[in-house]
Amino acid sequence: MSGINESVLETESLTKSFGGLIAVNNVSLKVREKTITMLIGPNGAGKSTFVNLCTGVLKPDSGKIYFLGKDITDWPPHKIYREGFVRTFQIPSPFLKLTVLENVLAALKSSAENPIKAPIRSLWIKEEEENIKKAFKILAKVGLEDVWDYEALKLGGAQLKMLEIARALATGAKLIALDEPIGGVDPAYAGDILGYVRNIKETMGLSFLLIEHRIDIALPFADYVYVMDRGSVIFEGLPSEVEKNPRVIEVYLG
Ligand SMILES: Nc1ncnc2c1ncn2[C@@H]1O[C@H](COP(=O)(O)OP(=O)(O)OP(=O)(O)O)[C@@H](O)[C@H]1O
Ligand SMILES: [Mg+2]
Repeated sequence: MSGINESVLETESLTKSFGGLIAVNNVSLKVREKTITMLIGPNGAGKSTFVNLCTGVLKPDSGKIYFLGKDITDWPPHKIYREGFVRTFQIPSPFLKLTVLENVLAALKSSAENPIKAPIRSLWIKEEEENIKKAFKILAKVGLEDVWDYEALKLGGAQLKMLEIARALATGAKLIALDEPIGGVDPAYAGDILGYVRNIKETMGLSFLLIEHRIDIALPFADYVYVMDRGSVIFEGLPSEVEKNPRVIEVYLG
């Protein structure tokens, strides 16, 4: 690795109000390539609104959003998703009646569906075989290869989170926004989830925007941290600096 990584996501003075309330106020944030960038802050700080702006769910009042150097400020969500910026929600939403493998295959297909090839049987059988191989590689990345034939509804909470991340990988994502990936998960497994995320980052070169409340557990896995309060970024820096910062202590840890 050499020098400073390129930014994958970059916002410039992003602002969004709801009536008189400025939910996101002039936020300029960067997610660099091959990093886990963490966004923390108390309830109502504007974290979810910020991610909604970046993924096209909400339109900013002003400011710019760049993904891999492209101005995506006015793009609709599906276009941003296809470009490789994928978001997982707080509540995992795989198809519960399908198996783990089928869930990953469905996500692979949604990225590769081709109506011209579909009627030609020999082409899609080969593609199906390749997809199964790809799916198993992805399942190995998230520690689910041994439960590939389980129905998703039989999985535990931590495994469901990993399936959601596997589905994001299957879409070919380059940047994955994780909204509280360890929320509601037994602390004993929370470190495992973030360990897998870190491993995916390192071996696949992906980037993550991680929104998290439990900073005691998540901080050691972060490469860079932003802290928001009432719409504004009040701190950015290295994980080792966060808990020492007086403003952060005052609004978040105090
Ligand atoms: N659609 C909306 N209409 C009006 N106000 C909204 C809307 N969405 C969010 N807000 C307000 O904007 C502010 C920021 O909310 P947001 O959900 O982004 O915070 P958050 O940091 O994600 O909080 P939490 O940690 O509770 O998830 C809050 O005051 C919230 O009430
Ligand atoms: Mg939120």
